Amino acid sequence: MDGLDDLRGGWLQRIAGASDEAALEEIRVAALGKKGEISLKMRELGKMSPEERQEAGPALNALKDEVNAALAARKAALGDAALEERLKGEWLDVTLPARYRRVGTIHPVSQVTEEVTAIFADMGFAVAEGPQIDSDWYNFDALNIPGHHPARAEMDTFYMARAEGDNRPPHVLRTHTSPVQIRYMEANGAPCRIIAPGRVYRADYDQTHTPMFHQVEGLAIDRDISMANLKWTLEEFFSAFFGTKVKTRFRASHFPFTEPSAEVDIQCSWEGGTVTVGEGNDWLEVLGSGMVHPKVLQAGGVDPAEWQGFAFGMGIDRIAMLKYGIPDLRAFFDSDLRWLRHYGFSALQVPAVHAGL
Ligand code: PHE
Repeated sequence: MDGLDDLRGGWLQRIAGASDEAALEEIRVAALGKKGEISLKMRELGKMSPEERQEAGPALNALKDEVNAALAARKAALGDAALEERLKGEWLDVTLPARYRRVGTIHPVSQVTEEVTAIFADMGFAVAEGPQIDSDWYNFDALNIPGHHPARAEMDTFYMARAEGDNRPPHVLRTHTSPVQIRYMEANGAPCRIIAPGRVYRADYDQTHTPMFHQVEGLAIDRDISMANLKWTLEEFFSAFFGTKVKTRFRASHFPFTEPSAEVDIQCSWEGGTVTVGEGNDWLEVLGSGMVHPKVLQAGGVDPAEWQGFAFGMGIDRIAMLKYGIPDLRAFFDSDLRWLRHYGFSALQVPAVHAGL
């Protein structure tokens, strides 16, 4: 068959010159597609004499194979080149030093909450939680603070709003963590041993008061728990927390939800205008406590004829200020980065009782 060499030379040259995969595909169609030049040539075989066909057939088939192979090779080469090009563009120097980013810190309140939790967990206390917006029943009534009780007014409570015409008592921002006592007893009954750390709210603002602050509630109910257990537990806690033996002083007090009730002071000194806990002849009030009032047990669905126990409520911010020498409570919640960097903790300083906190 005439002209096969020219045909081969022409197609191979065009294939070699294809600049991208689209151009290559056009060439393939023009050569081997249904109406491609080589396909049309193959169709001519039918009109040939057997002798002619015997010579032209294999030659055309060989040409077709050769062109196919050239197409495939060119396609692979173009693919490699495209990848090469992309890699050049996406090149990344993994040895470059990383961009400097300031690391955040753990807030002293978070840190101290973890410390408190670790110590009480070690004494077998579980952690309970309750809502920050609560009904007046949980925050007051169930804790033996009826509607007319002066404690309601003393608490500087934030009230939520009810819809117009809705005369039910409004919900409150909880004024203490004590409602968690009720919620926990309701759900779990007795015996129990829990702490409940969390945010509480009172309309108050000065160097030692902020409208939002943190408390940790403690509750231990069993058949024969006494004030002695309370005193031991608290002294054990404060000594672990401050890392030194801390004496406590119980002062008779009054809370509607405990009977008897005591405010607890810890021993400290005021040398040179700074407080040091665990030495000296001064006392600092840090919490309220007492034996859970029978009416409170009842409200929580626990039979006061069978069970009794102690409860306490302690200011987390307060003991954080004492332990870490932070003078002004308000700064806790100003989100001043300089303050946070100064008083904050590394995320790696995970409190653990065995590590001495
Ligand atoms: N709820 C009391 C307060 O906020 C503290 C307290 C808790 C007192 C538990 C006695 C028992 O002041």
